[in-house]
Amino acid sequence: MDLSRRHFIEAGIGAGFVGSLAGCTSLAGAAETSSMPAWHLGYQNAPTNGFEPATMKLAFGKPPADLRGSFYRNGPAQFQYGDDYASHWFDGDGLIHRIAIEDGQAVHQARFVETRKRREEQAAGAFLAPGFGTLGEESYYVESSDDVNAANTSVLVVDGELLALWEAGSAFAMDATSLETKGAKVWRDDLKAMPFLAHPKVEPDGRVWNLAVGGSRVGIYQIGKSGALEDFGMVDIGRAAYIHDWTMSERHLIILVQPWINENLRPPVVAGFEWQPQHGLQMLIVDKDDFTNQRWAQAPARAFFHTGSAWEENDGTIKFDVVLYKEPVLGVGGGAAEIRGEWTAADAGVDGILTQVVIPTSGDAKLIETGIVGEFPQVDPRFRGKQRNLTALVSGSTPNRPGSTGLSTHNWTTGESREFEFGPNRIVEEFLFVPKAGGSSDTDSWLVGPVLNLKAGVTEICVFDAANVSDGPVCIWQADYSWPLGFHGTWA
Ligand SMILES: [Fe+2]
Repeated sequence: MDLSRRHFIEAGIGAGFVGSLAGCTSLAGAAETSSMPAWHLGYQNAPTNGFEPATMKLAFGKPPADLRGSFYRNGPAQFQYGDDYASHWFDGDGLIHRIAIEDGQAVHQARFVETRKRREEQAAGAFLAPGFGTLGEESYYVESSDDVNAANTSVLVVDGELLALWEAGSAFAMDATSLETKGAKVWRDDLKAMPFLAHPKVEPDGRVWNLAVGGSRVGIYQIGKSGALEDFGMVDIGRAAYIHDWTMSERHLIILVQPWINENLRPPVVAGFEWQPQHGLQMLIVDKDDFTNQRWAQAPARAFFHTGSAWEENDGTIKFDVVLYKEPVLGVGGGAAEIRGEWTAADAGVDGILTQVVIPTSGDAKLIETGIVGEFPQVDPRFRGKQRNLTALVSGSTPNRPGSTGLSTHNWTTGESREFEFGPNRIVEEFLFVPKAGGSSDTDSWLVGPVLNLKAGVTEICVFDAANVSDGPVCIWQADYSWPLGFHGTWA
């Protein structure tokens, strides 16, 4: 870490912000007079109508000239009606952000996904629908999973169409510019309201793969780069494991069956999980060209939420990276407390460690731990399914509050890890790879992500050079306001 540069970011932006805040007393007042801890800023309601487009201020550095595009993100953003708090962070209504970056300028806007849940709860001014951590009101009828769809987890762009993703129901089509909700996406008439995971995998040529999970039966979507469904198949994973994410090489889909089982998917879903480590972590490897061509691999019991990406060696060995936990705690121990501004170190649970899983052509899989404690691993989109150097992930923590404090990269070729630590006054969110113009390696990339600046009470968009994250940000844009912490994004 470059201390002088970090010091500059802390001191320089802090000082710069004092000036800019002069005209924005409501935010400053809110941050200083609230009985809530400063970090609770990440769990506060967004404005009902979202955020109108607003140009962010360049607060540090020089924006890369070749960085242009739309950075979309999704995350829960409705946590309170009056004095009533949502039961779980994962059940807040999805707010879709677009940060349009061009000619060194960043413009932020955001809109809620207008689901049935959102419409009816807004009209009632109360939480009604059941969910991951919410029992729900008896009066709220539920016919399909889309009646409780929070559309709050990730985003996908296929052939220019922006989709807001959840995991237990449909994707929602959104206008990619205005962020207006168009409605639930139907890939094929017989697949209406079929679950569509929040972690689709996009091949470098644009073909999209995704899963539909319901109990032990898993559906496989194969979607062409034009956005048309090419195939949908079913496989059986043997038990109702929680599948939030999965991974893919050029030739295979790799479905991780963690021993975290939920045979009872009644709300609140979180109450139905059971840790059954005797099964270990199993992986079903499915041939992309023939879903009936399958094999299993076995590893010691681990829980996980997020993978990086897989590749295959010449001899057929599969390697992929994933953040593994010795037992499942994240999102179960916490999730409710944060919304209320209550949090203790115990809510953080066990550490997730960036790990490479090596699956030989026969025999058990090996787990190679990097020692990096973090989450939200990301890879360069040009190398999805292919051998590559880098994984980037958020890392670091500070006592007495949730959220990460740093950004790390690990180079699988050299074994080298690099880190930039922002310090305790910022919460660091998922960073995405954006290939540099003309570059050919994944080290020729920018890393772009949001950071919640707790001291200034604003959200920032930071850009790093993926080859040297320890040098600190290349540039930082700052909004005049903050927005709630989110989950995942995509770059288009
Ligand atoms: Fe996720």
